[in-house]
Amino acid sequence: MLSKESLQSALVTSLFGKRLFFFESLDSTNTCARTLAEAGMDEGAVVVTEFQTSGRGRHGRTWTADAKENLLFSVLLRPPLPKTSAGFLTFFAAVSVARALEEVSGQPMECKWPNDLLLNGRKVCGILLENSFNQELVEYSVIGIGINVNQTAFPGQLAPYATSLALELSTSVDRVELFSKIMASMESAYREARDGNFQNLLSQWNARCKMFGRTVTVVQDNRRITGRAIGLNHDGGLLVETETGTIPVYAGDIALHQNG
Ligand code: BTN
Repeated sequence: MLSKESLQSALVTSLFGKRLFFFESLDSTNTCARTLAEAGMDEGAVVVTEFQTSGRGRHGRTWTADAKENLLFSVLLRPPLPKTSAGFLTFFAAVSVARALEEVSGQPMECKWPNDLLLNGRKVCGILLENSFNQELVEYSVIGIGINVNQTAFPGQLAPYATSLALELSTSVDRVELFSKIMASMESAYREARDGNFQNLLSQWNARCKMFGRTVTVVQDNRRITGRAIGLNHDGGLLVETETGTIPVYAGDIALHQNG
């Protein structure tokens, strides 16, 4: 079981997680971190819970996770970045978490645009970035991270797409150690991200992305775009080469074609 004491005593960071808020149950760690941000909380604060009653995913979806088996947390940051660079924080988060997951599991992680991490082709981690802006600058960013750690069954429609570290490694994983490694990985990557220096992080993300060169269908609210994913745009969008030209995509779910 997690506790504030066990999580904090394992930290090797000087900023990330030093202010740690732990709850047995919470509506959503992102909601809580945003409330803290609005109240003036410093960056580096982290909200962790064992269970969410209203966990949120992208596109207003629900994020469900069994109690006491997973890692569910949100990190509050205040990078002095222009609004136009805020989207790159998603790559910072994905790479930071991927490095820690690889260290703990010994397995390579795959980055799926925009912010999923896959293990053996199935989703093991979801990231929800929520930004607040003050005119043209980032006021704060809340990075919500959900990692399937020791959960071994997923409900109906998720079952074919989701996995956990325990399922893939056939052994349970120490969540405190994993949390500590994620905090350390984020803290070291943040030195670059905070200054808007995303080149190195983007190349680490690209190196873990298997989508490029493959045929994809992007499913958005009111349209579907099918084409070849060819890389990232200068602003982090996914470039999809279609019959009518290359389109930068900024939202939607990506389905990879089997034989593309
Ligand atoms: C996604 O893949 O759609 C993103 C899922 C993000 C889930 C995490 S769990 C911790 C944090 N709190 C939330 O309500 N959501 C994020």
